[in-house]
Amino acid sequence: MEYTIMVNFKMYREASGARAVELARHLQRAQEETGIKFVAIPSTLDLLKVSEAVDIDVYAQHADPVKFGAHTGSISIEALADAGIPGLLINHSEKRLKLADIGWLVSEARRLGMTSVVCTNDDSVSKAAAALEPTYVAMEPPELIGGDVSVSKAKPDVVRRTVEAVRAISPRVHVLIGAGVKNAEDVRIGKELGAVGILVASGVVKARDPFSAAMDLASGFL
Ligand code: G3P
Repeated sequence: MEYTIMVNFKMYREASGARAVELARHLQRAQEETGIKFVAIPSTLDLLKVSEAVDIDVYAQHADPVKFGAHTGSISIEALADAGIPGLLINHSEKRLKLADIGWLVSEARRLGMTSVVCTNDDSVSKAAAALEPTYVAMEPPELIGGDVSVSKAKPDVVRRTVEAVRAISPRVHVLIGAGVKNAEDVRIGKELGAVGILVASGVVKARDPFSAAMDLASGFL
């Protein structure tokens, strides 16, 4: 299994504009040095600039449930695919969608050959997401997001239940975990519980040395 570390740049100042490109270059170097796959997920404003600057996968943080057309202010998944963006987050805790819209985006991502990462908040919502058969379900308890206690340490039972439930519904769907992940130990526990990757933001974006933080997280998978 290929372990993956997806870094969500959110709308953090530290990961915006030229700093988004710089951060993605750190992630590329961490991927080259460890062999662990890194994915950069910058804001929509920085998406194309970052994807042109680095050789790692760059995903979108969100798409609206619309095709090309008269949708002022929307981000169409077809436009992301046309721009060569290979994947996207769907239903992030900070950008929730309706179930029908999540289902539509997952099937569009499949049609367009994109990786879909559906974010969920617990094991029961993860089951519903797994039934849609995205590439990944990323379980992130909202109350732990941005904090210093990781999902793997605070809620190991929920991680275990999520992995089992998703596997029972579709063995093709992989489980990522996120929220509060800060170091190699958080990653190692998640790996032991069955997660194949992590979705992380502040632990890398807000670190004093983002490259070292990325290297430390990757060491949890080695
Ligand atoms: O998308 C990842 C995110 O919601 C987790 O944030 O800052 O707890 O790593 P953080």
